Parts: sequence; C-alpha cells; structure tokens
Amino acid sequence: MRKKIVAGNWKMNKTLQEGLALAKELNTILANETPNCDVVIGTPFIHLASVVSAVDTHKIGVAAQNCADKEAGAYTGEVSAAMVKSTGAGYVILGHSERRTYYGETAETLKTKVELALKNNLIPIFCIGEVLAERESNVHFEVVKSQIIDSLFGLSAADFSKIILAYEPVWAIGTGKTATAAQAQEMHAFIRKTLASKYGKEIADNCSILYGGSCNPGNAKELFSNPDVDGGLIGGASLKAADFKAIIDAF
Ligand code: PGA
Repeated sequence: MRKKIVAGNWKMNKTLQEGLALAKELNTILANETPNCDVVIGTPFIHLASVVSAVDTHKIGVAAQNCADKEAGAYTGEVSAAMVKSTGAGYVILGHSERRTYYGETAETLKTKVELALKNNLIPIFCIGEVLAERESNVHFEVVKSQIIDSLFGLSAADFSKIILAYEPVWAIGTGKTATAAQAQEMHAFIRKTLASKYGKEIADNCSILYGGSCNPGNAKELFSNPDVDGGLIGGASLKAADFKAIIDAF
C-alpha cells in the first residue's frame, strides 16, 4: 500500500534559530503520538544538519528544497545531492514551480537532479502542476503529463518506485485559492493512469501523490479523503507547528 505523507515546505523562511525552534516544537508535539501518515519537513539547506540532530528522524523526515544538477566541482553557490545526503536528510523537493519559474529549471535539468538524488539515496518529492492560463485553456492534463514524461519516464521501474509526486496547481500556491477536492482527485487519478501506462498498475498504485497549494487545517481533511490524494505538500501552513499538526491530524 502506498504511504500517506504530509510534507512541509518552509521555502525561504526562518533563520537558523527560528527554524530549529519550529522543528523542536513539532518534535515535542509528535513525541507521544503516532501519526497516521509519514511526516517530512523541507527546510533551507543551512538548517538541514541542525534540524536532523534536533528531531526524531524516525518520526520526522527531513528534506532539502533543491539540489544541484552537477555532482561536484566548480559550481559556486550550489549544493550537491551528496552534500544534502551527508546532513542526514532523506528527501529532496525537486521541480517546485517556484524553482521552475524564478530559477529557470527545465525538464532536462530536473531529470538530471532526480537522477543525482536517487544515486545519493535521497527520495525525490517531485512537483508538477499547471499555471492558471493552462487550466483555463484546458491543457492542464497535457501539461502535467509532459512534466512527468520529460523528467521522470527515463527512469527504470525500480528507480521510479522510489519517487513521491506532488501535484501543485501553480494558481493555488500561496494564493489561498485551493483546488476543489474534485479537481484534485480528477488530476491525481489522471496522474496515476499516466504512471500506469508506463510502469504498470502496481507501481502506479504504490506511488504516493501529494496535493499542494493553499492546503490548510480547514481544507486538508476534504482533500485527503479523495482516493488518489495521498497527502499534502504544505507551504504557508507548515510554518506554524499547530497548523502543520492539524493537517497531519487530517489523516
Ligand atoms: P502553499 O505552498 O501551501 O503556501 O500554497 C505550497 C507549496 O508551494 O509547496
């Protein structure tokens, strides 16, 4: 059975001290609980090692929000997948729409990043999703399908099985405008069908597909109750431990 997952994406928020405090608060809240889902927090690079030391990593997985498309060498300012792994982090968010839009990440770059993440035993949380104009002109299914094919369908079945997907309609990210439960379910089912056409039903059925985009304590339960929605990638609402916990509790 595929995993249920609630993953936080802190984006470029929190100083090291603030981030550490948030991670510790969440760790304390979850200390005497057994959530009905896996919990992951995606922190800035500089927080990773400290956050890994501060939390029970059996209970709270730690993710980077990016990694380089090169293994090592003269790439000033970049952080490699091997470096991320060496902090004790277990996951890396890749292909977030903010990286695609503001930092020009292409399908080809992302393909390389996914390969390097897997080579270094990091679990990629790979983001896909259409912009508003694409949905309004009814090409959203094609757009999402291409994002999957172009960056992921070169992977072997064994490697693809390690990937977590996050469907994040760009128009819903940080806007307070959530996809309806029906819109999320429709796209998630489409994504699963697309995966099945390439890798077969079993692998498709075992792939966790998270929803992201203005997911909050008020709407998480309805979104997560859909058969093909296996959890959430949470931005704004992951910055407060109580809100993030309430979303975890939606399962
Ligand atoms: P949001 O961000 O929850 O603030 O909309 C989600 C994301 O970008 O991962």
